[in-house]
Amino acid sequence: MGILKETLARKIEEHRPRTTRLLKEFGKVKLDEVTIAQALGGMRGIKSLVTDISYLDPFEGIRFRGHTIPETMEKLPKPPGAEMPYVEGHFYHLLTGELPTEEDVGLVNEQFTRRKHVPQYVFDTITGMGKDSHPMTMFSAGILSMQKESEFVKAYNAGTANRYNSWEFYYEDVMNCMAKLPEIGAFIYRYKYKDKMIPSSDDLDLGGDFAQMMGIDKPYDEVMRMYFIIHSDHESGNVSAHATHLVASALSDAYYALSAGINGLAGPLHGLANQEVLRWIQDVLEKMGGQIPSKEDLVKFCWDTLNSGQVIPGYGHAVLRKTDPRFTAQREFALKYLPEDPIFKLVSALYEVVPDVLMEHGRAKNPWPNVDAHSGCIQWYYGVREYDFYTVLFGIGRALGVLANIVWDRALGYPLERPKSVTTAMLETAAGITDQ
Ligand SMILES: CC(C)(COP(=O)(O)OP(=O)(O)OC[C@H]1O[C@@H](n2cnc3c(N)ncnc32)[C@H](O)[C@@H]1OP(=O)(O)O)[C@@H](O)C(=O)NCCC(=O)NCCS
Repeated sequence: MGILKETLARKIEEHRPRTTRLLKEFGKVKLDEVTIAQALGGMRGIKSLVTDISYLDPFEGIRFRGHTIPETMEKLPKPPGAEMPYVEGHFYHLLTGELPTEEDVGLVNEQFTRRKHVPQYVFDTITGMGKDSHPMTMFSAGILSMQKESEFVKAYNAGTANRYNSWEFYYEDVMNCMAKLPEIGAFIYRYKYKDKMIPSSDDLDLGGDFAQMMGIDKPYDEVMRMYFIIHSDHESGNVSAHATHLVASALSDAYYALSAGINGLAGPLHGLANQEVLRWIQDVLEKMGGQIPSKEDLVKFCWDTLNSGQVIPGYGHAVLRKTDPRFTAQREFALKYLPEDPIFKLVSALYEVVPDVLMEHGRAKNPWPNVDAHSGCIQWYYGVREYDFYTVLFGIGRALGVLANIVWDRALGYPLERPKSVTTAMLETAAGITDQ
C-alpha cells in the first residue's frame, strides 16, 4: 500500500465509527421534511445526502474540507514562483481531509505520473467518433472506454471485494482514471481543433503539464491550476456529483460513474452554461458591430433574452444566494492579468446590470453570477476560443471532487441509492384535494 493510500486508510478507520454510531443510535432523528413543492421541484434543498469533502453555504459559497476558496488558495503548497496551488495538493486535501505538505504533493504527483499512460484505444475511440462529435461526448466516451481496466470489477468478479475493502479498489480506479484525464482532455482539444497532439511531460505538475499539452504558454498553467481547483467540487446535490454518486451506489465502477457525471455536466443548465455564456457574449458583440455596448444597450439585450423565454447564462444558482466566490476568484485573476480585455470588460459590465434586471424580472431566486459567468472569458483571452470545449475543462476539474467522493462512499458503506416515488394522485390526497 502506498503512503497516500495508507493515510487515507487511517482517515477512513478514524471516520467509520462516527457514521456507524449515527446510524445505530440516532438513525431515527429527523433531518428534514419534504413538501409537495420540493417533490415537484427537483428536490431542491432536501437534506438527504452526506459528504464531508465540500459544503456549500448559500451566502458564503463553497468550502473544501472546511476551507473557503481564498483559504484554500492560501494554505495549499504552490509550485516555485506560482500564485496558484498544485492541483495535486488540492486532490490530497479533498481525499484525505488534511492539508498536504510539499512531500504529500510529491506523492500524488508521483502516483499520477506512474498511472497516466493513456491506452491507444482511448484515442482510437475518440477519433473514431469523428471531429463533428461534441467534445463532451468524446470525453465521456473516452472515460467509458477505459472501463475494462477496472480493478474493482476484477476484485468483484474474483470475490475479493467486500463491504469493508471495496474502497481500496475504487481508490485504484480513481487514481488510474484521474491521472489520465488531463491528457485525454488535451488530446480532444488538439485533435478537434489543432493539428497534432503534444505529449505529456513527466517533469511538470498537473496544471503545468496540461498547459503544455494544450500548447499554451505561461501563465496558462496558473489559469488551469485555479480553474481545476475552483471547479472541483460543489457538495453532493449538483447534477454531475449526484449522477456520479448515484451510479457508483449500484457498485458500477469509477469509469461508469464518472462518465455518467460528465454526461450530466454536459447539460446547458449545468456545466455547459460556460459555453453558453461565451456564445451569448459573442452574440451581444455581433449585434453591437464589435463595439462594447453601453449600459442601456446591455439592459435591453438582457430583456430581449428574457422576453424570448431564455435564461441569462452564468446567472442564478440552485443553492447560492450571493455572488459565487468562484466567479470572484476568476475576476481577481482577470483584474490582474487581463484588465483591458474587451470580453472581460463586457463580463464586468454585465455584472453591473444583470442582477438588477433579474431582480426586476422577479423569477430567479438568485440574481448573482455563478462560476460560468467568468470562466470562458479567461479561456478566450489565452487563445482557447473553441467554446464547445470549455465544459471538458470543467469536467477534468469536477472529476477531482466526484472521484474523491465515491472512494468515501464505498469506505463508509453508503448503500444503493433508492428514493421513493409517489403518484400525482397521492400528492392530491396528501394536499386534501377532493374536487376532482
Ligand atoms: C442555475 C439554474 C439552472 C438554477 O435553477 P433553479 O434552481 O431552478 O433557479 P431558481 O429557483 O432561481 O428558478 C426560478 C425561476 O427563475 C428562473 N431563472 C433562474 N435563473 C435565471 C436566469 N439566469 N435567467 C433567467 N431566468 C432565470 C428559472 O428559469 C425559474 O423560472 P420559472 O419559474 O419560469 O421556471 C438557473 O439559475 C439557470 O438556468 N441559470 C442560467 C444557466 C446557468 O448559469 N447554469 C450554470 C449553473 S452553475
